[in-house]
Amino acid sequence: MTLSGRVSEIRQEFAVRYTYPVCFTRAALDPDNPALPNVFREGGAARHRVLVVADQNLLAVRPNLLDAVRRFASAHQDLVELVGPVVAVVGGEPAKRGLTTVRRLQRVIERHGLCRQSFLLAIGGGAVLDAVGYAAGTAHRGIRLVRMPTTVLGQNDAGVGVKNSVNAFGKKNFLGTFAPPFAVVNDFDFLATLPARELRAGIAEAVKVALIRDAAFFRELCAARDALAAFEPRAMEPMIVRCASLHLEHIRAGGDPFEFGSARPLDFGHWSAHRLEVLTAGEVGHGEAVALGVALDSLYSYRRGLLSREDLEQIFEVLEGVGFRLHHPGLAGLDIAAALEEFREHLGGSLSITLLAGLGRGVEVGEIDCRLMEQCVEALGERA
Ligand SMILES: NC(=O)c1ccc[n+]([C@@H]2O[C@H](COP(=O)([O-])OP(=O)(O)OC[C@H]3O[C@@H](n4cnc5c(N)ncnc54)[C@H](O)[C@@H]3O)[C@@H](O)[C@H]2O)c1
Ligand SMILES: [Zn+2]
Repeated sequence: MTLSGRVSEIRQEFAVRYTYPVCFTRAALDPDNPALPNVFREGGAARHRVLVVADQNLLAVRPNLLDAVRRFASAHQDLVELVGPVVAVVGGEPAKRGLTTVRRLQRVIERHGLCRQSFLLAIGGGAVLDAVGYAAGTAHRGIRLVRMPTTVLGQNDAGVGVKNSVNAFGKKNFLGTFAPPFAVVNDFDFLATLPARELRAGIAEAVKVALIRDAAFFRELCAARDALAAFEPRAMEPMIVRCASLHLEHIRAGGDPFEFGSARPLDFGHWSAHRLEVLTAGEVGHGEAVALGVALDSLYSYRRGLLSREDLEQIFEVLEGVGFRLHHPGLAGLDIAAALEEFREHLGGSLSITLLAGLGRGVEVGEIDCRLMEQCVEALGERA
């Protein structure tokens, strides 16, 4: 090619299609349950090399999980070859503390000679899934990842999407990838060993997504709040499925699955939540922080004249009704301007914060009045 003018350009353009199943089941490792074998079959007729990584805290309360994995693999020898023993990784937010977990997993992946056709099967809470996902997304530029989320929040939000990350430089999710999983298998049975605090945490993401997207779902959460507060499976399970499906729909049909733009409505309430998690060194968990952040941004929406008093009260009623406390002393240390700037920087572009213009109606705004927000933080404290 000759360069006739100053610049010659070839426009490169292509689309990559992603498809992955998100199943809901019980006893997923039971040799007779078809969910997981179907996933491996989708990977081709071959016998697949599989490395299982599990949340240490999960293993502590479910010591028989190791046997269940072995039994599953030996019942499906035509499909699955375990390349080594289950790798236990530290559970909860410490899994995401810098690159320690990720480095360790990358080393194990290399040692076992896993290739891009091999599978990592990650079993654990959202934090472990985020860290394993980052290791899977970076080794060989991406090996197949099957997620088995074992928390409510993992099943209805963290485990079903396309993001992986770890925390670094004092910032949540600073390092990470957009790497859709090969499949997600949600097994409700895992929730039986979750402590109350963690069961509740996942309800916050359902309230969040209902508030920005789905008024009918919000009314259902309202009506079911006593059953949710008691973590009754008949209320929890449909809540999980609906919440997961709203997240999936946003990723699939929202027009920006890899978040190239500056708006991220699913992060309603998250600009303060992420800071609060860091400020309290994880004492306030992600879901609890989201409940607080949702309360704060709902109050701000009301004070900005976007939301009616009646709607605001309903939001508080649901959040408190399922057992969240809507204040934490750590909020006093929140530097609002800095937290907003950190949130903006993570997404790039100009600031875009989701507020509420009604139940089920998220709206993006480009500016936050820090003084008014400060008054909202104080008001939450006074209410408490
Ligand atoms: N990637 C995403 O799109 C996305 C979305 C939302 C949240 N997240 C991330 O997810 C994380 C929160 O996840 P989480 O709420 O699942 O918390 P978590 O992973 O911290 O798990 C909570 C606790 O429960 C333990 N645990 C897990 N399963 C258990 C079980 N079945 N029985 C008993 N204990 C069990 C864990 O070890 C941990 O101690 C945060 O780091 C958050 O940033 C990621
Ligand atoms: Zn969240």
